[in-house]
Amino acid sequence: MSAPPLRVALLGCGTVGAAVARLLAERSELLADRAGRPLHLSGIVVRNLSGPRDLPAEQAGLLTDEPGALVDGADVVIELMGGIEPARELLLRAMRGGADVVTANKQLIARHGDELHAVAREHGVGLDYEAAVVAAVPVLRVVRESLAGDEITSISGIVNGSTNYVLDLVARTGVTFEEAVAKAGALGYLEADPTEDLEGIDAAAKIVILARTAWGVGVGFDDVHRTGISGLTDADFEQARGTGQVIKLIASAWRSGQARHPRVELAVRPVLLAQDHPFAQIREGGNAVVIEATSAGRVRIHGAGAGGEETASAVLGDLVALARRRPAQA
Ligand code: NAP
Ligand code: HSE
Repeated sequence: MSAPPLRVALLGCGTVGAAVARLLAERSELLADRAGRPLHLSGIVVRNLSGPRDLPAEQAGLLTDEPGALVDGADVVIELMGGIEPARELLLRAMRGGADVVTANKQLIARHGDELHAVAREHGVGLDYEAAVVAAVPVLRVVRESLAGDEITSISGIVNGSTNYVLDLVARTGVTFEEAVAKAGALGYLEADPTEDLEGIDAAAKIVILARTAWGVGVGFDDVHRTGISGLTDADFEQARGTGQVIKLIASAWRSGQARHPRVELAVRPVLLAQDHPFAQIREGGNAVVIEATSAGRVRIHGAGAGGEETASAVLGDLVALARRRPAQA
């Protein structure tokens, strides 16, 4: 392999970042074959240099709390810090310096996607975020590429892993809501601020990104009619059980008007579903999305909606895809 290594900067080494770093080491030869050149991890940015890390020994020396120089020297920057700042500034800096970027940060893309895409276009670099929406499940690629010749009329589903885990555990095992939330946290499913999951803010960001990708419309976070699951009571779960139903947090987006001039409505809310409904079967941290399109009909896709290694799969997919698109001499 004669192409020079691609210098990869990793911002964040938590649930997802640590899994990405580990898999970059474990699969280095496989990923180099797939990307057409070695992927060289040049540094890992964290907040707290002395915190415990689940990293291969050879990567411990890559940790830094100074992202600037690392970003400036990278060919690809992977952002897995979460939050809006400094993630936004660092990705803008990376793209202005000619680096491609990959992120799993749905809040950043839902709120600042237009700005980031404009800078990516201006500088001719890639901006990919498959992991931001439904983690391991490649739903953005399906909407953006596979169905690009069709007319999508609606997208709906379970797009948040932690709340599905909580709703499923409370319904099936009888643990309390609080215990189920604590277990979701221990599995790495919750956002740094769990309110984002429990109040439907995370799901709202994902349905905004899906709608923008499907219809090219300028919808934003405030366009989502949103209710989370924190207000559910024991009586709600008992009522669901008594009537043979389950509660699921469903995000939906539907189009009215003509395909070229769509009007789009968005909602996130807990919904009662019969036990045999396909969404009712989704267990634990699983997610499922149904896309309705005029010619394709109903397309169903499901899989892991959260988790470090599961999300890392989508991040590495974006990284390999960007490496393949990048000129070999760069
Ligand atoms: P996390 O466990 O909280 O890890 C965040 C990492 O970023 C930590 O290593 C932290 O450093 C570092 N960090 C945060 N702010 C920083 C700052 N200002 N400067 C330097 N480093 C900073 O988060 P995560 O669960 O891996 O999630 C990361 C991103 O992936 C988020 O955008 C999340 O929405 C998205 N995502 C997560 C999942 C999932 O299942 N967890 C799935 C899909 C998408 P320290 O370790 O020193 O604190
Ligand atoms: N907190 C998110 C969830 C992580 O529970 O779905 C995956 O985006």
